[in-house]
Amino acid sequence: MSVRYGLEGQVAVITGAANGFGLAVAQRLADEGAKLVLVDRDADGLHAAAGKLGALPVVADVSSEEEVDGYVRAAVDAHGRIDLFFNNAGIEGRMAPMTDMSADDFDRVWKVNARGVWLGLRAVLKVMKPQGSGVVVNTASMASIKGAATFSPYIASKHAVLGITKSAALEAAPYGIRVNCVAPGHFDTRMGRDLTHQINPDDPDGVFRAVGESVPYGKRYGTAAEVANLVLWLLSQESEYVSGALYLIDGALNAG
Ligand SMILES: NC(=O)c1ccc[n+]([C@@H]2O[C@H](COP(=O)([O-])OP(=O)(O)OC[C@H]3O[C@@H](n4cnc5c(N)ncnc54)[C@H](O)[C@@H]3O)[C@@H](O)[C@H]2O)c1
Repeated sequence: MSVRYGLEGQVAVITGAANGFGLAVAQRLADEGAKLVLVDRDADGLHAAAGKLGALPVVADVSSEEEVDGYVRAAVDAHGRIDLFFNNAGIEGRMAPMTDMSADDFDRVWKVNARGVWLGLRAVLKVMKPQGSGVVVNTASMASIKGAATFSPYIASKHAVLGITKSAALEAAPYGIRVNCVAPGHFDTRMGRDLTHQINPDDPDGVFRAVGESVPYGKRYGTAAEVANLVLWLLSQESEYVSGALYLIDGALNAG
């Protein structure tokens, strides 16, 4: 049984809600009795999730200015306000040395992970500021605090999420709004599995086992439900006074 945070009736917008972390957070918030607006570009996955959770689905691409303004408008039209925002949609892109990448490889990842997070924050803060309240959690990554060979667009985009989080926290603080980010390590989601295929298409399961073994705590990948535990706490009043922070959740992988 999960901890309850008293979020009943709160209006929550979640991007990347059809899968992985977004879906896990949506499930927890539905259990809390929050009013959910779920956003994803995967229409089938989104409608399945929204149907199950009694949520409002909005099919949108978070890298499009018009579509971001559209999902925020849909939330306000339906519920009149936005209390909680899990700004989470992201893509991994292609792994390769920089010298083997095109500018399009960079732009594709940057548009979703950096521009998409910034556009979402801009639109949601326009709603939260006049309310004088709200809580935002952005999905960063351990890629926000270190480099990795063959992963430069993703690394750049997740460093940007940390910078956007800090700037937004300062801008939003006078309005009683908190903004933080979570920084997951290795997690068993579609994205985590795709990366094992990219590293070794001939033996993705071998990569999965070796990566899991490299994690000091538990010798395993994390689960989306474990990220949701952290996100729920950050969205709740229990984390009052926490703002502008990055929370690693990585089984001590980056502690050394
Ligand atoms: N899985 C990991 O190991 C890991 C580690 C660190 C950070 N992250 C980050 O966590 C977030 C969620 O990842 P996940 O593991 O749940 O991945 P996932 O692929 O399971 O889910 C991502 C969701 O985002 C949606 N999405 C992608 N691009 C979109 C766009 N342009 N507009 C709207 N929706 C879009 C997808 O359709 C999907 O439903 C991402 O920001 C990712 O970078 C993941």
